[in-house]
Amino acid sequence: MLQFSKVGPNTYAGDLLVYLVRQSGKGSPRCGDGAVDEVVRGVHALGDFSGKEGEHFLFYPDKGRKGMPSAKRILIAGLGKDELSQEVFRKAGGTIASLAMKSKVKDLLIVLPGKVSEMVDMVEGLSEGLVLGAYRFKKYKTKKDPDAPGEMLTRAALYTPDSKGVAKAIAMGEIGAQAACRARDMANEPASHWTPAHFSEYGRNLAVAHGMACTVLDQAKLKKLGLGGILAVNQGSARPPEMVILEYTVKPNAPTLLLVGKGLTFDSGGISLKPSAGMEEMKYDMCGGAAVLCAMQAIAQAKLKGLNLVAIVPATENLPGPAALKPGDVITQYGGKTVEVVNTDAEGRLLLADALAYGIKKYKPDMVIDVATLTGAVVIGLGHHRTGLLSNNDALCDKLLAAGTRCGEPLWRLPLDPEYAKQLKSEIADFKNVGKKDGGTITAATFLKEFVGDTPWAHLDIAGTAWDFTEKSYIPKGPSGIAVRTLFDFVRNWKG
Ligand code: BES
Ligand code: ZN
Ligand code: ZN
Repeated sequence: MLQFSKVGPNTYAGDLLVYLVRQSGKGSPRCGDGAVDEVVRGVHALGDFSGKEGEHFLFYPDKGRKGMPSAKRILIAGLGKDELSQEVFRKAGGTIASLAMKSKVKDLLIVLPGKVSEMVDMVEGLSEGLVLGAYRFKKYKTKKDPDAPGEMLTRAALYTPDSKGVAKAIAMGEIGAQAACRARDMANEPASHWTPAHFSEYGRNLAVAHGMACTVLDQAKLKKLGLGGILAVNQGSARPPEMVILEYTVKPNAPTLLLVGKGLTFDSGGISLKPSAGMEEMKYDMCGGAAVLCAMQAIAQAKLKGLNLVAIVPATENLPGPAALKPGDVITQYGGKTVEVVNTDAEGRLLLADALAYGIKKYKPDMVIDVATLTGAVVIGLGHHRTGLLSNNDALCDKLLAAGTRCGEPLWRLPLDPEYAKQLKSEIADFKNVGKKDGGTITAATFLKEFVGDTPWAHLDIAGTAWDFTEKSYIPKGPSGIAVRTLFDFVRNWKG
């Protein structure tokens, strides 16, 4: 969709020309085009525009005016006066995308401000913002709303006279953002249309498209291998569980990163049934699995070279069918540890424990990151802005925190002191699956920690950020696609 344009603003005669401008200390912001700057001066004098971040205005250029570009519309968007960051450009991209869609614009040209060789990161952010901000999920709408935003932009281009590195930055931004949009698609699908089998199908297709290896462990294989956690959670569902494994191998001596994503295609709570208000949101309980698969998609598409990767998505529904797991049941996880299931709604940790233990034993990774909508407690603690990060390794945390910040997906580390493990003591098994309510995000991670041993590991609790994420121009209502770009960025910036 996005490209670098050699056609400059003076020759462009398309639907929408966009200038990004800085807020100036005094006087009117400037874009560098004399005739356009005259218009900006007028609007600034009226007090309607100062170039603040998020501020913008659209006008219809007078074709007769000397020196005026011949585009049909011109949009002036402010970048503020603070130091420029990738996030400022991402938000600008989101603003441009939504305005373009409102005006039913089909093509647009954005003129980049300043020297691009000094700001390829910004170009990448802008590309991401355009793609992420143009996202809508309309699959199930049968009627066209005449007031609805126009079709997605079909041609968007960025222009700069100094083009070094621009095409690559646009391509990378687009790859990451498109992958995040695919994760949003998976999450938007109702649970009847995004089942464990859909995860497997997506994994197989990715493997074919990008030369990865895909293995799907079906119910029989899971039984044979002894993955008792995912099997137990699946007992109440009419659909069999599936565990999708993707392998992306660059070179044998590169370190291996294992990604694990919670793929609960619907979480009713099981016999410990959730209240009905808001239960429909539990179709989103697969966002961790979606993030992991879509991050693999971006990594493979960008042909990243630094790390070997293995991604595992344990996928099932959690329903209270006649054979469902019951409170008080004792199950055996992969590797032999036993768990007294006190609450069947704390199911995510049961299948993650299997996937983590199995993935570590089988693939001997150098580090592990899991992503899961694991606890309501993280929503209470961190709200809808920061993802909870819990880990046994400081260096891994530092890298993830930096990646999250760069991507506009900030994380916040919570503690994992051994004292929290007391809550999980069981009288009859090795552990209980829940503690008290207190510190729920930490006790959930404490449970997972029992299954990773000494392998450097980080757990991302995305229950607050996978949907209803912080309001921003490039985050539409519904699922956010969180963690796809953070994982992509983490792998891109990997240095031993
Ligand atoms: N999928 C939920 C966590 C969740 C809650 C995600 C709200 C998004 C929004 C998870 O399986 C769950 O139900 N966790 C319980 C654990 C409790 C029973 C210890 C919770 O957080 O309430
Ligand atoms: Zn649950
Ligand atoms: Zn759940």
